[in-house]
Amino acid sequence: MSERETWATRTGFILAAVGSAVGLGNIWRFPFAVGEGGGAAFLLVYLLFVAIIGFPAILVEFVIGRRTDRNPVGALKDLGHGAWRYIGYLFIITGFVIMSYYSVVAGWFLRYFTLGFTEGYAVDDPEAALGLFGSISTGLDALLFHAIFMAAVLIVVGLGIRQGIELAVKVMVPAIIALLVGLALYAATMDGASAAYSYYLSPDFGVIVDEWQTLLPLAAGQAFFTLSLGMGVMITYASYLGEDRNLSKDGLTIIGFDTGIAILVGFVVFPFIFTAGTDPQQETVGAIFVSLTQAFGEIPAGQILGIIFFGTVAIAALSSAISILEVVVSYLIDEYQQDRVTATAIVGGAIFLLGIPVTQDLIFLDLFDGAVDGILLVLGALLLVLFVGWVIPDAATDELGKGIANLGSSGDVWIWLVRVPIVLVLVVSLALGIVDYVDFLSTDFADWFAAR
Ligand code: PFF
Repeated sequence: MSERETWATRTGFILAAVGSAVGLGNIWRFPFAVGEGGGAAFLLVYLLFVAIIGFPAILVEFVIGRRTDRNPVGALKDLGHGAWRYIGYLFIITGFVIMSYYSVVAGWFLRYFTLGFTEGYAVDDPEAALGLFGSISTGLDALLFHAIFMAAVLIVVGLGIRQGIELAVKVMVPAIIALLVGLALYAATMDGASAAYSYYLSPDFGVIVDEWQTLLPLAAGQAFFTLSLGMGVMITYASYLGEDRNLSKDGLTIIGFDTGIAILVGFVVFPFIFTAGTDPQQETVGAIFVSLTQAFGEIPAGQILGIIFFGTVAIAALSSAISILEVVVSYLIDEYQQDRVTATAIVGGAIFLLGIPVTQDLIFLDLFDGAVDGILLVLGALLLVLFVGWVIPDAATDELGKGIANLGSSGDVWIWLVRVPIVLVLVVSLALGIVDYVDFLSTDFADWFAAR
């Protein structure tokens, strides 16, 4: 077998993982999940989940990847026995599905970005903004920008770990942070800023009590999605680590950046929306586009701010998308000895095709996203933590201890967190996620199907 690639630097690994974590989840979903979930009340539940579930769970993936130096399918075959050996295949399926619609949505941002150079965002009423979103999100435009975005992802992944992914994230991640900080500072000077902050940050604890059945899976799903957990991204990225350094320190750094950026995005998005006087409470997939184009149409320098904002999101989406594709590509390279370029082309082509229905009808977005967010990621994470916590705890703790001067009893604390509380939260979230999805299939999707 030819020599397997590794990261050139430690920073490269951390930036790649941050790049994967920070994406549409932070920008397209997070601020609106906060809005829907009772402001700071949701934030609290979410932060709690990130700390007590996200952190131990990211270590689970790191440990598996670094121990085996393999893609998720190979890694699980290596470590597991019996049925456990097949968990990795679930990740490959999840990767395919996520990537297909992730690329379509990223394509929308790319399209809005280019719009700033041509017509601008001069839509002055909600109807027009909605109409614009309709014409961009489905049909030929959507297909074209899905293709352009996929092509960009293929180029980066095709170039490999050091020449492609590592180089790209070294530019992209600092750019994302600098641009968002700049936008947030600018947003702080706007008229609507203080109203925006109090909307964003005022807790409504009633929501936690009254709506915990929706809040719980929302917050858990968001925690997993935003940290790229439950489909082997962190296994794959950790498998390219050449040396043993402190994984828990890296995990904390990555989670810190992801959470910080998610919160920061709220400080960008809401002041724009409040200054323009549009409705922050819209719950559709197009909410951020509809309210922000109106905002950019109305505020001073809106055109240039819009270009910067939509461009930043497109970069963030790209650095996440490459990690999703890398999971599937690494599988073909490791297990079938494909060369990287062929593997990338095959996978990219197949995913592009799977995304086509999403570009034609938004019902497929709900169909795919609901399955991924509510079920597949949670199931993947659940199987993985059960495996590590109950089947290979000693090997896992041993691996975690490498690069840590004195693990002490924290290895045991970690394993017990993985064994019980995380499993409980995941089981409850999975159950609620399945109920939600079945409900979607039997109502919205059934209606759509019947109308065919
Ligand atoms: N973490 C990415 C985001 O927040 O947009 C999305 C994502 C990437 C999810 C990779 C899952 C994944 F495996």
